[in-house]
Amino acid sequence: MKFKDQVVWVTGASSGIGEALAKALAGQGAKLILSARRVEELERVRNECGGHNAPLALVPMDVAELDSIPDKVSQALEAFGRIDMVVNNAGISQRSLAMETGIAVDQRLMQVNYFGTVAVTKALLPHLVRQGSGRIVSVTSVVGKFGTPYRSAYAASKHAVHGFMEALRAEIAGTGVKVQLVMPGFIRTQVSVNALTGDGSALGAMDQAQAQGMDPDEAARRILSGIETDALEIYVGGPKERFGLFLKRFFPGRFAKFIASAKVR
Ligand SMILES: NC(=O)c1ccc[n+]([C@@H]2O[C@H](COP(=O)([O-])OP(=O)(O)OC[C@H]3O[C@@H](n4cnc5c(N)ncnc54)[C@H](OP(=O)(O)O)[C@@H]3O)[C@@H](O)[C@H]2O)c1
Repeated sequence: MKFKDQVVWVTGASSGIGEALAKALAGQGAKLILSARRVEELERVRNECGGHNAPLALVPMDVAELDSIPDKVSQALEAFGRIDMVVNNAGISQRSLAMETGIAVDQRLMQVNYFGTVAVTKALLPHLVRQGSGRIVSVTSVVGKFGTPYRSAYAASKHAVHGFMEALRAEIAGTGVKVQLVMPGFIRTQVSVNALTGDGSALGAMDQAQAQGMDPDEAARRILSGIETDALEIYVGGPKERFGLFLKRFFPGRFAKFIASAKVR
């Protein structure tokens, strides 16, 4: 029960991994702040986490609206008077070849996945440092470690989060604030349905790999276990994606051939 009475803020809590994390944390007795754009979906998650009597606050927000974020962070801090852990989980994916992807799509992926994460982190950081404790957990992807076809903008946005968070971790070492990265492989969520195609419209369909991916509740269980062990990077997914991580790290030339022929769409 490591998270009992801990105040945890989960972004992207209206669906998928964020929703599963919220439910798992509620089950452990955490105090929750849940964010996403769709208020009715946040209300549904709240009901499934114990309803209005549960220690749970909703702070609806769009992480792409960067100017609004300092105010949203203040609202989140006011909910329970402190925050022990933020999970930067809100995100969107992509399904389009780089050559067929408008630059506005690249910008949108960076805005939500990278700048949204950075803005939340920067606004919250002074409070965590002053507190002398806390965790900044960012859900990136295995695609934060290697690029795969159809995900050039997505991979770039997740690599960017890795770069930012590694630099931040070094800067705030010794403050008591921990920086952790979660790298999911294929998890069975709405991520491919919501993924942007080259013209900026949503794919609107579940990928086969996604449909066969890990159950989000199992992913949430593994993510929380990884966080508890203070792991710097937490991999969650199947053996194929883990193999990709291994190959990219130790045999980058072989990885380049492997990924060019992989059926990853
Ligand atoms: N599923 C996978 O296989 C997989 C693999 C690797 C990494 N990931 C990462 O895991 C995270 C969660 O994705 P998921 O798989 O759970 O997908 P999902 O079911 O589509 O959930 C995405 C969540 O992000 C929120 N969101 C999207 N855009 C937002 C915005 N502009 N502002 C605020 N919230 C926003 C959505 O809520 P609203 O629409 O209500 O705003 C939703 O709660 C993402 O960062 C994704 O890149 C997923």
